[in-house]
Amino acid sequence: MVGTMVADACFTARPSDIVVATLPKSGTTWIKALLYSTVHRREHPVGSSDHPFNSVGPHECIKFFEFQLYTENKIPDLDQLPDPRLFATHAPFVSLPRSVLAAGCKIVYVCRDPKDTLVSQWSFANKFRIRGGLEPLSVEAVAGSFCDGVTPFGPYWDHVLGYWRAHLAHPEQVLFFRYEEMSRDPEAHARRLAEFVGRPFGPEEDGAVDAIVNLCSFDHMIGLQATKSGKTHAVIGAVDNSWFFRRGVVADWQNHLSPETARRIDAITEDRFRGTGLLVSG
Ligand code: A3P
Repeated sequence: MVGTMVADACFTARPSDIVVATLPKSGTTWIKALLYSTVHRREHPVGSSDHPFNSVGPHECIKFFEFQLYTENKIPDLDQLPDPRLFATHAPFVSLPRSVLAAGCKIVYVCRDPKDTLVSQWSFANKFRIRGGLEPLSVEAVAGSFCDGVTPFGPYWDHVLGYWRAHLAHPEQVLFFRYEEMSRDPEAHARRLAEFVGRPFGPEEDGAVDAIVNLCSFDHMIGLQATKSGKTHAVIGAVDNSWFFRRGVVADWQNHLSPETARRIDAITEDRFRGTGLLVSG
């Protein structure tokens, strides 16, 4: 509640704003890349020499709107940004500035299998620990905290449910994607994203959809110079852009989690998501 009041005081949404919302390690980098390159496809066609991804990563193109609040305890001046403003947030739905929904702006949420999110968070956290001279954490230790809901931006299940319910209540305003489905059919998701934000691909743009999907694919982005040598200023400090690209696959958790831990997470997920429509079986 306090978070919402602070956010309300410092940010007034515009109807044309588009907000990417995710938990860390759910596909934020990917959806930012898709959204930015879709919305700006006319000024920055894929392949143009001045395309921003040639020099900076997607996190520089779409920033977290609460970033300066966390890092400098400062109210960011977002009024100068031209329309359409593209933002990202890891905040739970209940903590969003109320004007985001009231103004009618669009929210694009991506969720991912909690087991893959956990493994990705564990690996990312250890990069910081190793750089800081700390011992890496075991995946089982991080899994214990994850199951107890002790994770950045709140418990996984509450975060996903918050945006899922918002999607059910306001489908025209909240788009809900799953990382696994994006991996299966990125082109369909690129098209749905473009339609949702009011920039559908026309029949003459078939090539543009493919080009954007390829530009934003894991295999392409991992090879970009901005990924190999660039940095992003994150809340937790400077991050090598390459840290945002690890495996980029579905079900890598099978290589890291014990069967007991996987079962424990699945049981919590079934318990928390039963009857919500979020489970594949309903
Ligand atoms: P893994 O650690 O499982 O490989 P975020 O962007 O929210 O920080 O999430 C990072 C996760 O998304 C990492 O998952 C990363 O490899 C994956 N990822 C990053 N860019 C991607 C892309 N273009 N396509 C698919 N997955 C991507």
